[in-house]
Amino acid sequence: MIDLVLSNCHVATMVGAVPYGAIRDAAIGIAGGKIAWVGPRADAPNAMVTSDLGGAWVTPGLIDCHTHLVFGDNRAPEWEARLNGATYEEIAKKGGGITSTVKATRAASDDDLIKSAQSRLDAMTAHGTTTVEVKSGYGLDLDSEKKMLRAAADLNGARIVRTFLGAHAVPPEFANDREMYVDLICDTMIPVIAREKLADAVDAFCETIGFTHAETMRVFEAAKKHGLPVKLHAEQLSDMDGASLACRYNALSVDHLEHLSDEGIAAMKASGTVAVLLPCAYYFLRDTKLPPVEKLRAANIPMAVATDCNPGTSPCTSPLLAMNMACTLFRLTPEESLRGMTANAARALGIAGQTGTIEVGKSADLAVWNIGDPSELAYWMGADLLLTRYLAGEEQ
Ligand code: NIG
Ligand code: FE
Repeated sequence: MIDLVLSNCHVATMVGAVPYGAIRDAAIGIAGGKIAWVGPRADAPNAMVTSDLGGAWVTPGLIDCHTHLVFGDNRAPEWEARLNGATYEEIAKKGGGITSTVKATRAASDDDLIKSAQSRLDAMTAHGTTTVEVKSGYGLDLDSEKKMLRAAADLNGARIVRTFLGAHAVPPEFANDREMYVDLICDTMIPVIAREKLADAVDAFCETIGFTHAETMRVFEAAKKHGLPVKLHAEQLSDMDGASLACRYNALSVDHLEHLSDEGIAAMKASGTVAVLLPCAYYFLRDTKLPPVEKLRAANIPMAVATDCNPGTSPCTSPLLAMNMACTLFRLTPEESLRGMTANAARALGIAGQTGTIEVGKSADLAVWNIGDPSELAYWMGADLLLTRYLAGEEQ
């Protein structure tokens, strides 16, 4: 029996060859929190309840597949210093940057972390997000990393996918012994986090100001040993050949990619790894090196788009703004940007069987919009286009 039919709507299923997988004058049937039927309104099944959406568009709920949503304090002063000429790398080398957020995050109570992250999450869900990936990586000791991951699980209003990012930066207490910190990640943090099921994947920051290729490989070996899939911050500020490395471990995604090489693209193609593009970080760092979008497109590599919400390089809580920037800055089409925030984002998180498209059997995670065409989602800047959301069939 169908519990609810959403009727009198246009549906961007994001499946099939038609642009946006669109079905006009459509209906969606929901049963037990899942999509049970989708098709032309005239053929809709009977249901206990029917809701008339008045001609609105329905898309899959948006999936933000790369965020650092949980953190203490913010870095507005550092941003001002950058406006006056300091670079991100210079600030990081002087102990600012990620390290300053580590200090604030370690000092924050569980409650402080949850409250501030919840208010950012509320802003995201108000723009149609139904799933958010949340990384740790501002704790950098076992207790603080666990505190971040627990805080992420306590957030309300969206499906949360958690990623352990212990290899985000070397914390100050290990500044003179990086190897010992990597030992701690591999021998203590990953085993405990895997055993206590505190994360769904492991990420690292492979970069001149982050971790070397060899260190990243050690982290991935530990993840593999403990049954956790991997992803990587790769080729953001320089080409460290991180994408190829990650693909050797069948990474779910490699993220940023401004400096991605042809070899990296070939490796991604072979391993089916998703390219996660983060245009808000590119914008906020006033970067000028564009990711090779045309080559990714030509190689048929699935592209996802995310906010990268974090206090240092992307204080962005709007998935729609990320889509707009993916189009204006990176030259994605509006359809690619929506696919990047739905179907391909689900792939980047390994949850494509559950959410990301409007298909029978998937969770009824839906966003209902006040627009005349799906391209408007990426077109308007800062507009409130969302009418309502459904999460597992429940109106939010
Ligand atoms: O995705 N690149 C590394 N991590 C974040 C930035 C974190 C920070 O500056 O606090 C990013 O851009
Ligand atoms: Fe990031």
